This record gives sequence, structure tokens and C-alpha cells, in this order.
Amino acid sequence: MCGIFAYVNHCTPRPRKHILQTLVNGLKRLEYRGYDSAGLAVDGGSNATPTIDTKNNNNPSAHIVMIKQKGKVKNLDEKIYKNQELDFEVEFGTHVGIAHTRWATHGVPNAVNSHPQRSDKDNEFVVVHNGIMTNYKTIKTLLEGHGYEFESETDTEVVAKLIKYLWDNKENDDVSFSTLVERVIQQIEGAFAFVFKSRHYPGQCIATRRGSPLLIGIRSESKITTDSIPIYYSSAMKPTLERTESRSEVVTQDAEGGIEFYFASDASAIIEHTNRVIYLEDDDVAAVVKGGLSIHRIKRGNVNESGARVITSLQMEMAQIMKGEFSSFMQKEIFEQPESVVNTMRGRVLWDERRIHLGGLADHITEIRRCRRIIIIACGTSYHSAIATRQLLEELTELPVMVELASDFLDRSTPIFRDDVCFFISQSGETADTLMALQYCKNHGALTVGVTNTVGSTISRMTDCGVHINAGPEIGVASTKAYTSQFVALVMFAMMMCEDRYSKRQRYDEIFDALKALPDLIKEVLSLDQEIVNLSEQLHKHKSLLVMGRGYNFATCLEGALKIKEITYMHSEGIMAGELKHGPLALVDSDMPVLMIIVKDQVFGKCQNALQQVVARHGRPIIICDKEDQESPKCASHVLRIPQTVDCLQGILTVIPLQLLSYHMAVMKGLDVDFPRNLAKSVTVE
Ligand code: UD1
Ligand code: GLU
Ligand code: MG
Repeated sequence: MCGIFAYVNHCTPRPRKHILQTLVNGLKRLEYRGYDSAGLAVDGGSNATPTIDTKNNNNPSAHIVMIKQKGKVKNLDEKIYKNQELDFEVEFGTHVGIAHTRWATHGVPNAVNSHPQRSDKDNEFVVVHNGIMTNYKTIKTLLEGHGYEFESETDTEVVAKLIKYLWDNKENDDVSFSTLVERVIQQIEGAFAFVFKSRHYPGQCIATRRGSPLLIGIRSESKITTDSIPIYYSSAMKPTLERTESRSEVVTQDAEGGIEFYFASDASAIIEHTNRVIYLEDDDVAAVVKGGLSIHRIKRGNVNESGARVITSLQMEMAQIMKGEFSSFMQKEIFEQPESVVNTMRGRVLWDERRIHLGGLADHITEIRRCRRIIIIACGTSYHSAIATRQLLEELTELPVMVELASDFLDRSTPIFRDDVCFFISQSGETADTLMALQYCKNHGALTVGVTNTVGSTISRMTDCGVHINAGPEIGVASTKAYTSQFVALVMFAMMMCEDRYSKRQRYDEIFDALKALPDLIKEVLSLDQEIVNLSEQLHKHKSLLVMGRGYNFATCLEGALKIKEITYMHSEGIMAGELKHGPLALVDSDMPVLMIIVKDQVFGKCQNALQQVVARHGRPIIICDKEDQESPKCASHVLRIPQTVDCLQGILTVIPLQLLSYHMAVMKGLDVDFPRNLAKSVTVE
């Protein structure tokens, strides 16, 4: 689930120092995803001949050295330079290095369980893995029966041992590295991205994926001779006999300056080296052999599959992924919201024509309008964005709208029909539970729509159509700007659905004008920052914090409480104010901080009731309310006044103070805001 980075230099002499730095640097770019240990593998030995004959392979006798360490990449980096065995100046004409940040799923975080995992004590095959294998126990039992000894608790080690088993039992010496890997992935179930290295195949690197992202960056001084990488198909029945050798396809052998390849689970580790990349598809086996890249697949039936993978250009500004003047990514992302919501609307809200045009949905909107029901499926913050916009969706589409947590949706095997439209919301576009729900809905024939922040992500590619929220890379583990952009994207969708309905025109116009004003109102809310610092000083030592509201602002309560839990490790609960008498009121006394969201909308009166109930139990609520509200502040211990907008967008303005509050409380508690304990940015495991 965490990070993979690998680096191949072919006919490009590089000192070992450079190779190690490139690997460590790659891992650092992936750090934002959260992890608990790190490791890498490079060629070892002091016998590596400096500037080897670059026309040929690397020194075939070089054994593989692994360095692994629990904790941060920085610790790994320090450990590398303590290694007495390694000569850092020695130069490699051709070399394959693989590296990994692990987020433990099978076995505790420690050096032995860190990746790379190896086939045997001599490190003949080493592998890094993102994801989870579901049938590893069966394979492990089988391999143990054959005398293979395991040293780690990971599922991944099975793969290293399995490839060694296939090598030990190969039919002849011509069997290629990619063929072995193809055989491996036929045996395993679950989600994975793998990169392999072997001393039996010096200079070669094999990568494959299923359900976990992996891309390959290509850099060459000389001209890259093709725009796409051919796919070789082999038959599932006899995977090895049809092809024994893969051809070099990316660049000619005699190209001056050689070629370099970067494998990563995330584009942010590649962008500084090259913007020419290929995204691997599920079950692709990519092989770098003698500086050429080719892709191998097992042909399934008569499926008409394309014969090549296109090399695309990554357009991601390095500056975009840096922190700038802010102390953390989360803070930067909170303050980016006036721009990020504009980016979500850019080119889609046509201000002059007073129309909404979501290009990604245009071809399907008629079909969507004809559906019988809309189901929105997501996890965590993305789920809250669906809760926040559900009422408006119901109002503008007049369709039943169900909002589902992906995990629960799957547990229930919810009935899905061909005339359902299913939305999948995920910042990363890789969320495992959401992906599985997507597969489930596809199998039931529903139209699937993605709402993701990541172009090229699995959800974006697997859905029939969708909307990229274009909020820019979000690095802080606690989602902020992605939430407000998901919110805006869903509002735009609701508006697009009712565009030609006269009865909704007035409502449409009201929201349309409010969207225009939104960025300035967000700026106004952000100017409460100092006030929120003061409030955080009062609150951060408390054990618990209740957040209450209802109607359009109930989602803010859930999302605010989630932010507080995630990064301050404080207990917090989002409470539907209408439920107060059914239990939560018992928690209220003079010591329990209660934050209430009370704005002038249809439920204002009901919120006033809730406020009175809290006050009657000696609670001194902190209130987020409209600037004009004279009434609510009378009973408050603290008031945050925010500008008013149309009811259905108010949730964007009420959530921002809670984002800031959780941020400041976490800073005051001395916590790592961007990397909260036990959490990862994109949850690619169940
Ligand atoms: C697209 C271009 C954008 C360009 C604009 C010009 C891309 C990624 N976007 O934006 O650069 O400025 O046209 O009109 O090339 N999709 C899914 N699932 C998802 C998200 C998206 O299937 O989860 C599909 C959409 O249906 C669409 C494509 O991906 O076919 C691009 O979506 P999106 O970026 O939202 O489209 P536009 O806003 O039109
Ligand atoms: N399941 C593997 C392990 O626990 C890989 C986890 C990851 O994706 O980092 O080692
Ligand atoms: Mg998340």
C-alpha cells in the first residue's frame, strides 16, 4: 500500500553513491503517503568493475546488498553510509536498484519484515511489494513443504520464494525473467504492485501490478525512438514456450548517453527526472532488458486488447508539490482553498452563459438523467462530501440518492440494478474499498461515475465517466482542499442535472451566483485564523470535543470531528443535533466542550432548540454562526462569525474553521500534522 521506487541506469555510468541517492530521494518523494519502514537493494561487492563494458551486462557475479530499517527514510539513509562493505565511488555502467517504503499489513514494522523481501540467504531474487496477497498462506505451506525457509511474517516473502522455486524448477536455461514473473502472478490473488531484481538477470528489472498503481518514467539523452511500448501476448495455458526473449523497444542499443528508467507507485517520485511516463495496467508485466522496455501479458480468451501502452507526458509542477511558505502541507492546503475551488470550477462553470459543463459527464448526462436512483459510494472524508451534497442532489434531481460507506456497502452485498448510477469518490482514486465497490457495481451493470483528484488513477480509468476535481496534489494525510473541491464538483453535477428544468431555475440561479462569490467568502473565513489559534489554546488540552449541527451542516460536524480525531488524536464526535435527546445529551456538562454550527437556514429554529438544551445542562458552547446572527452568541463561550452564502454551499464555509482548529490543536500538541500516526494518505488495502 505504500511506496515503490526503482531506478535502472543502462549504458549510463553512475557511481554507487549517485544510485543510492536517487533511490533514497525517490523514497523521500513518497514519504507523504505515510509508512513505517524503508529499505532498498543494490548490487554489492567491492568487485564491481568500475565502468564496466557498457555494451554488455553488469558484472554478473555481483551479489545483491539489501539495507533495511524500521522508521523514516532519513534513518535508512544514515544506515547506508555506515555500511563498511560498500565502496560508494565505484561506477556502474548498468545497474538496477529497487526501494520501498512499507506500511505494514502482515507482520510488525521491523527490518526483517521491511522490503525488499528475498528468496534466500544469497539474495538471488529480491522484490518490493505494495498491497496485500490474499492467498499467501496456501503458497507458503506449499513452499515450506518443498523445504523453503521463511524469515519474515510478510505476505510478500512468499513471492520472493515462489520465484526462486520456479527458477529452481525451470524447464531450461533460456527462461526469461519476465516469464518467471508472469508465472508468479498467475498463482497469486489480491492486490499488488511488484518490482523484481535478480542476480541471475543482471541489468534487468521486472515490474507488474494488479489493483495497485505503478508507472515507469523514461529518460534518455538521445531521442526516444517510439511513442508507445508494444505488448507481447502469451497464452495462459503455456505461458513460457511461445516467447523466450523480449526485444528492446524504447531506444536503440547504440544510443549515446544510454537510458534510465524510474519505476514508482506515484508520479511525484518521477517528475523531477522525466515527464515521459507509462502507466501500467493490471496484469502487465513490464521488463527492462538490455536497456529496452517491453510489456508482456497473458492473453485471456478472445478479448480484443490493445497492442501497446502509450508514453504520456506528466504535467506536474515541482513547485506544486512543495510546501512553500507554510509549516506543513496541511496548512498550505487549507489556505489554498480559495484557488483550489476555482480550479475545480475552471472551464466548467461558464460564467457568461450561466451554464455548467462537466466535460467528463457530457456524453452520459442524458443516460444519467434517465436513471432510477443515484448511489454515492466512498470512504472517510469523501463520504462526508456526499453527505454534504445529498440534500441538494435530491432536490435538483428528484431522484432517490443513497450515500454509502464502501466497506459497509460491500458487507451488505447491496442490490444494484442496470438503471442505477453509481458514483465513486476518492481523492487518490486508489482507495481499495471504493475500488472493490466499483468492481461490484460494474459487475451488476450499473453506470459508474468517478469523482477523483488523480488523473490516471485506477478509479478514474475504471469508471465509465467522471469528474476530475482538479484540486492539485494533496499531500497532507488529513484531506482538506480535496473535500471542498469534491463538494463543489457534486454541486456542479446537481446543477447540470436540472439545467433545462424551468421549475428549478430560480434555485439554480441562486446557487450559480453563490459559486461566483465562494472564493472570496473562503478568504474571509481563512482570516479567522488568529481567532482560531486563541480558541485552540483553550481546547487542545481537553480529552474530547463534540461537534453538533443538522441539515446542510451535519456533514461539517462529521468531517470536523474526523479532522480532530485524525491529527490531534483527541476524541471527537459529530452529532446530528436532532439526535441530542436520544443519547448524546447525557455527555453534556460544564466540562465538556461542545461546538455548535448554527446558521440561518431552514433548521435555524431547531438548532436554537438544541442550543437551549445544551445551555440548560450548563454547557458553554462554542458557536460557529452567521455574521448577522444576534441571538445565538448570547449563550456562547466563544463565537466564530462566518459570512453567509446559499444554504447548500454553507457547509464549505463552516468546515474551514474546523480544519484550522484541528490543525492548530495538533501543532500545539507537538504532533506531526502531515503524517498522523497509524494513518496513510491513500488507503489501498481493505
Ligand atoms: C478535459 C481535460 C482537461 C481539458 C478539458 C478541456 C483531462 C484529464 N482533462 O477536462 O485537461 O482542459 O478537457 O475541455 O484530459 N473520467 C472518468 N472517471 C473519473 C474522472 C474522469 O472516467 O473518475 C473521465 C471523464 O469522463 C473524461 C476524462 O476522464 O472522459 C477527463 O475528465 P475531466 O478531466 O473531468 O474532463 P474535463 O473537465 O472535460
Ligand atoms: N503486505 C505487505 C507487507 O505487509 C506490503 C505492505 C505495503 O504495501 O507496504 O509487508
Ligand atoms: Mg483519505
